[in-house]
Amino acid sequence: MTLRLTFEDKNLQCAAGIIKKGGLVAFPTETIYGLGCDAANSDAVRRLYEVKGRPCDNPLIIHIHHRDEAARYAHISAKMKHMMNVFWGKDGGGALTFIAPLSSHAPVCAGALAGRKTIALRLPLHEGARRFIKLAQCALAAPSANISGRLSPSSHHAVLAQLDGHIDAIMMENTSTLYGIESTILDMTQDPPLRLRMGALDDEILRHHLGEMECYEDKAQENINLSSGLFGAHYAPLCALRLEARTCHKNEAGLSFGDNIVQGAHPHMNLSKTGDVREAGRNLYEMLRLLDAQKPAAIAVAPIPHQGMGQVINERLHRAAMTKTMAKKMAKTMAKSNA
Ligand code: TXA
Ligand code: MG
Repeated sequence: MTLRLTFEDKNLQCAAGIIKKGGLVAFPTETIYGLGCDAANSDAVRRLYEVKGRPCDNPLIIHIHHRDEAARYAHISAKMKHMMNVFWGKDGGGALTFIAPLSSHAPVCAGALAGRKTIALRLPLHEGARRFIKLAQCALAAPSANISGRLSPSSHHAVLAQLDGHIDAIMMENTSTLYGIESTILDMTQDPPLRLRMGALDDEILRHHLGEMECYEDKAQENINLSSGLFGAHYAPLCALRLEARTCHKNEAGLSFGDNIVQGAHPHMNLSKTGDVREAGRNLYEMLRLLDAQKPAAIAVAPIPHQGMGQVINERLHRAAMTKTMAKKMAKTMAKSNA
């Protein structure tokens, strides 16, 4: 059974106790819900990979409760220190994950890092999440609280729809998460730093503070294996997605954006009636989930401008759409080879 807990002190203590005993607890952050366990406990980490169905060569993000903790886990360059000061405020955090060289005494098991000598570190902005991590008295290895490859969860409903009964507890909030999109990942082991995953924090703001920064997409041709979770199909609902749609085909659901309405769709939702890309980001995964639950033939998604968060939404949608295209291609190839 999965224990449902709200953010009261006694519940936080209870959730922290579950982590100490090696359990798995889902919790909200400002980006999406994470599925946390003690990063130093290799049995707990193994179970976490199993529950998610995640390939064990895909490392996890390590979540800490305070900026001062970072030095226990990673070697921090002057540039990273500067960025931590800017984006991980003194008492808070931010939707930015750093990749840095692993410190030799870091209390993290090799499994959580998939054997790498670098570590992904994140300090959530979400105050409740930080209190929870502090009470657990360890860093939490916490990937998104979904089955690998499926939609990331921005509400507790989304987590429970995929993982109820398979995890020990969930810390719940009634509202959806603040950004609804994963953190931005910045690799500080490279100079200039390399933005790996685009996410809740804008490239422009990062570039403003870094001066020079490279982006993963621009280096993709070099075919570098930087981060296993960054390629290919991901973030997918169960049904197919059809992008840049203006009208609906038979039995399709529609997902509009502002005045870009998918005509004739039922069921139908609008990511942001006012055409605000931030609001659209916040709604993206939850609306895809709700439409998917109606079992449409596909979800037709209206064009979304490629600015700011719109760029991130488009990237996630393309990767989600890829899943079904790949599955179709594979089915065709198999049918041919069986013929
Ligand atoms: O917003 C977020 O970042 C959420 C919340 C829960 O914090 N977490 C999240 O975790 O999105 P996950 O596991 O779904 O995505 C983490 C990504 C994966 O693509 C993984 O490959 C990459 O981070 N990653 C982790 N450690 C890495 C490392 N040492 N080097 C390069 N990439 C790494
Ligand atoms: Mg994920």
